[in-house]
Formats: sequence, structure tokens, C-alpha cells
Amino acid sequence: MRMYDLIMKKRNGEILSKEEIDFMISEYTAGRIPDYQMAAMMMAVYFQKMTQEETAALTMAMAKSGDMLDLSAIEGIKVDKHSTGGVGDKTSIALTPMVAACGIRIAKMSGRGLGHTGGTIDKLESFPGFSTEISSGHFLDQVNRIGISIMGQTLDIAPADKKLYALRDVTATVDNMSLIAASIMSKKLASGADAIVLDVKTGSGAFMKKEEDAFALAKEMVMLGRHAGRKTTAVISDMDEPLGFAIGNALEVKEAIETLKGNGPQDFTQLCMELGAQMLLAGKAAEDTKQAYDMLRGVIESGAALRKLAQFVEAQGGDASAVYDTSLLPSARITEEILSKQEGYVEKIVCDEIGICSLLLGGGRETKESTIDLSVGLILHKKVGDYVKAGESLATIHANDKEKLLLSKERFLCAYRFSETRPEKAALIKGIV
Ligand code: URA
Repeated sequence: MRMYDLIMKKRNGEILSKEEIDFMISEYTAGRIPDYQMAAMMMAVYFQKMTQEETAALTMAMAKSGDMLDLSAIEGIKVDKHSTGGVGDKTSIALTPMVAACGIRIAKMSGRGLGHTGGTIDKLESFPGFSTEISSGHFLDQVNRIGISIMGQTLDIAPADKKLYALRDVTATVDNMSLIAASIMSKKLASGADAIVLDVKTGSGAFMKKEEDAFALAKEMVMLGRHAGRKTTAVISDMDEPLGFAIGNALEVKEAIETLKGNGPQDFTQLCMELGAQMLLAGKAAEDTKQAYDMLRGVIESGAALRKLAQFVEAQGGDASAVYDTSLLPSARITEEILSKQEGYVEKIVCDEIGICSLLLGGGRETKESTIDLSVGLILHKKVGDYVKAGESLATIHANDKEKLLLSKERFLCAYRFSETRPEKAALIKGIV
């Protein structure tokens, strides 16, 4: 088999066989196919697309390109959750202890990632001493003992995807439905859970700006999960404005803790309840949505979900007292209000611009090598549909550097749009696939 022939085949709109896709992925992972040939293939896929069969073959080939985590040492149904990401998305921090407190086993691998804030692992490192660099033995043991563990990607999970994603990033071939779905699902399938709940975001702060594209991606990923024998559900949720009020690592952790105490923002709490319900159904801990919602409300009201977070933090070396006293989490030296120059209803918040404000403060990574400032970020006081008077605070900015604060503030003020009439609030949950 020759890569040249496969590129030509795809370029001409023909369908690649499973054997051809297996060859292409294993040879590329081994370094025997050069980047320039794979880049040409990605561009051919971008224009000619892939069939469902080709996408499924690509997903499995990438999933099998490295370690496949074996979770059979953990009793019961293991349920994983994945979000396509967005601004203020601290869902895993609150959701996983809620679901674990209801009896579902959470054995999750998570990443740091590039972006406006860190990934779940960075956020969890706001707890002094917390580590996700644990052995797979520790990981499996902890899940059996307390029902929850989150491990950093210490194993070599889907190395083909790592290489391909980096290549797509610099060759304008990221935004192809089959390639995105295969990339996400290859990592999830290699991570070993029996059931997967996907949170597919849509709106100005999401990968998929258009709702129809988010639904198409969700359907594609659900198909891939089921094809691999995993129960897979996708919730399509709004990311046209930031989720909750907090954006920034430690600030988001505080908001997640408040949510576990029952004092969380309405939208964030609703999303945790919906995803949590789908996880309980997938793990057969609840028979229907009503029972799942009752169980989730129960673990918040009893304090069991908060205690589960503390137990989880402690088991991974963190200072669990910070769960009960959030002043122990990192905090920034400077706080300043961002005052509105205009009056009216907030009509739109350009969501990814707010993410960039957090990045400018040092709360995210621009390159893999950047270090992250866990303490900085923003707390919004006004969201879409709220009325604002001129001079009223739109947000509190948390910073450690005056210059960065000024840059971020300037950008923030351009991200808010006002109108004289109250805009209709978009639904948070767009649908379930
Ligand atoms: N996230 C991924 O992991 N892969 C993609 O291709 C896009 C988003």
C-alpha cells in the first residue's frame, strides 16, 4: 500500500477501506508517513468528506494507536463525560462528585489543554497539593475505594490523534465534522468507560457556532460510541454566553463548590443536573429522569456531593479544607470593577471575547509551554437579559498585573452589546441525542 495512492483516492472522492485507514494511521504514528502527505490527506478529507464507515474506522484506528485503558478492575458501570469546551465551563468539578455521590463510578482521564482558562486538571490544581500524576494502580484503587478519580494523561492515549490534531491545527483542517468526531471519540474510547455522556456546546463561545452543526457533531459522535459498543448520549447546550458567572481557574472552582452547596448560578446548576441525570441513566443508577433529578438534588441537600469532592481532593494529595474554606484557594492581588458606559438590556455577550479577557490576564495558555495563573479571571454580574444602568458594575476583574488588567478591561467592554428592549433568553439545553 502507498500513501500516495490513498491521497489520490480520497482526492477523487472515493471511499477508503478499513485496511487502508488502518495502514495510514499506524504508519503515520510510527513516523513512516511524513507530515506533508498526511496534510494533503487531511485536506482531501476536508473537501471530499468521509462516510460513517470511514469515520468509524478512523476512530478505532486512532483509539488503538496507543494505550487502551482497562477499567475492568473497577466494579460496576463506569461512566465518562466529555465537553467540547467553552467559556466558564467548570462542569466536571461539580458534576463528577455529584454523580459519584449517587453511586456511579467516575474513572476519568483529563487534560490541561490550550485555551481561555486551563483544563479540568489545571482547575483542580487550585487545591494546594492536588495531583493528577498518579499511577494507574492508584487510579483504579481510588475509584474502587471512594468512587471517583481523575488522572492526567500520563498514559499514551491515542498518540495518532495527538500528532494529527497538531497537524490539522496548522493546516486549516480542524473544522471537519468527521475529523473532530473521530478525534474526540478516539480518546474517549481509549479511556475505557462503558458509557459516555457528551456535552456538545453551541454558540459564540463554542467550536460549533451553529446549532445545526452541533447537532450533526453530536449525532456523529453518538454513532461512533455505539459502533464501538459503548452507551453514548449527547446533550447539546448553549455557549452563546459564558456558563455561570465565574471565568478563571480558582474562581471557577469556588463557583463549583457553591453549586455543590446548592448556591450555584441557575444555568450552571441546570446543566449539571441535566448531564448528571444522563450519567445516572447511562450507569443504570436511576430508572427515569425524575428519579435521577431527585437523587442529584438529594446529594446536594444532604451535603454528600460536597463531602465527595473533599474526599476526592484528599485522596489525590490536595488540601480538602479548601473545599470548606475557599479563602485557602489562590486569589489575585488586585480586584477592580468594570463599570458599564452604557444603559440598557444586555442583548449579547460575545462569549469567546470574554474568554480572551481571561487569557489576557494570564488565566489560560497560549502555547503548551505557557504557565497559568490560577488566581486571575472575571466574575460577571450581568448576563443576557439583565438591565444595566450606566456606571453599574458589569463584572469584577481579578488580576495580578495592572497592565494586563487594563488590556483585559478594554476588550471586555467591547464584548457587551446593549438594546432598549429585553432580548429573549436562549434555552440552555437545545436537545439530547
Ligand atoms: N477537540 C478535539 O479533541 N479534537 C478536535 O478535532 C476538535 C476538538
